Amino acid sequence: MRRVVVTGLGAVTPLALGVKHTWKHLLAGQCGIKKLGEKFNDLPVQIAATVPAGNKDDGGWNPKEWLVAGEERGMALFSQYSIAAAEEALQDAGWAPKTEEELERTGVCLGSGIGSLEDAYSSSIAYESGGLKKVSPRFVPRLLINLAAGHITMKHGFKGPNHSVSTACTSGAHSIGDASRFIQFGDADIMVAGGSESCIHPLAIAGFARARSLATDWNDNPTASSRPFDRARAGFVMGEGAGVLVLEEYEHAKKRGAKIYAELLGYGLSADAHHITAPPKDGAGAYLAMKRALVHAKKGPGEVQYVNAHATSTLLGDVAENSAICRLLGEDRRPHEINISSTKGAVGHLLGAAGAVEALFTVLAVHENVMPPTLNLDNPDEGFECNYVPNIPQQNKIDVAVSNSFGFGGTNASLCFAKLR
Ligand SMILES: *[C@@H]1O[C@H](CO)[C@@H](O)[C@H](O)[C@H]1NC(C)=O
Ligand SMILES: *[C@@H]1O[C@H](CO)[C@@H](O)[C@H](O)[C@H]1NC(C)=O
Ligand SMILES: *[C@@H]1O[C@H](CO)[C@@H](O)[C@H](O)[C@H]1NC(C)=O
Repeated sequence: MRRVVVTGLGAVTPLALGVKHTWKHLLAGQCGIKKLGEKFNDLPVQIAATVPAGNKDDGGWNPKEWLVAGEERGMALFSQYSIAAAEEALQDAGWAPKTEEELERTGVCLGSGIGSLEDAYSSSIAYESGGLKKVSPRFVPRLLINLAAGHITMKHGFKGPNHSVSTACTSGAHSIGDASRFIQFGDADIMVAGGSESCIHPLAIAGFARARSLATDWNDNPTASSRPFDRARAGFVMGEGAGVLVLEEYEHAKKRGAKIYAELLGYGLSADAHHITAPPKDGAGAYLAMKRALVHAKKGPGEVQYVNAHATSTLLGDVAENSAICRLLGEDRRPHEINISSTKGAVGHLLGAAGAVEALFTVLAVHENVMPPTLNLDNPDEGFECNYVPNIPQQNKIDVAVSNSFGFGGTNASLCFAKLR
């Protein structure tokens, strides 16, 4: 079996632009959730985790540093973020292929949950008021979810598999998992894989608020709003950004002397077959996804030292996932010996990018032997008996870790990363 390793990382997150700044802020316990502008004043939720503006060197986002004017106009923000994250990941991996053979063996698999809601919204209004002439020729290319992947291939000339996943909040994890299968199966040697999202728009907030998914009581205290596993948690907080991993076939990476962060050992998928937005109480789908990832990784539950949970800070979701983790990992140990954290306290819920950014955090946890904290976990709710790494990071020698992602519609995925042996 061809082995798959991680050789490059790239991120645009509410904490910062770039992996280095993001990771530093995450470990320092900073939070990227902020008060939104006036456009949101009539909504029950007026906060979100937005990417900070600024210059690249200071960890801020400025599209001019990444795109020429024409590109910027032709690309929706979620595509722009993915261009930046892919660029960083490729540079980190030291992969700048030139030969036809190399370009054909490099692919892209990048998903998004929603795509450009802003374009759908403003074009609808333009069409309603002014008809055909008011619709921009750029509308469709900006709208489509797979154009983020498409723009990356065009920018770099990659001619390998060109794929895009849209499975709500599991998109990022499915993209990385599917990409690893392309490498294992021999369709590519290198895959640029991840997820991207930018849909912090009044309409999206209205929709998620009406679905009763969002935390509504924290408009005046945004950094306390996302509180996975905490007694006062009351819903998720929308976030935006992109995460990209460069995945590479092991021998290929070894031959060119690439730095290897970790091995992607396992990928498990499942469905709840239960309800549109609510998980079953015991987290049956989550359990199956994790179990399948471990079977694929040839690891026992007792070998997992850290779980980066999907835990979005909703009442039911956190309970279901926790119950699934305890049932699986609790076969070999007592609850307080199980190490779990949710980085959503710091970055909110990046929807289609969440699985990718959290996979990246999990890779760094394995690489640096540190568990990033769960922010705002002041009073663990009843029944939460594991170690959730509250508020400050903890050192732990991590050989094997799991990253979970679940989405509306009942779709679940788990990725298992390990130190290279
Ligand atoms: C990848 O897909 C995009 C969007 O469909 C397309 O525009 C692009 O040409 C494709 N790239 C390759 C190399 O086939
Ligand atoms: C699986 O996906 C569903 C999507 O509805 C999600 O709500 C749920 O949390 C996941 N399953 C669990 C935790 O069992
Ligand atoms: C959990 O983390 C603690 C550090 O806080 C460490 O001492 C312990 O060994 C870890 N347990 C596992 C199973 O990795």
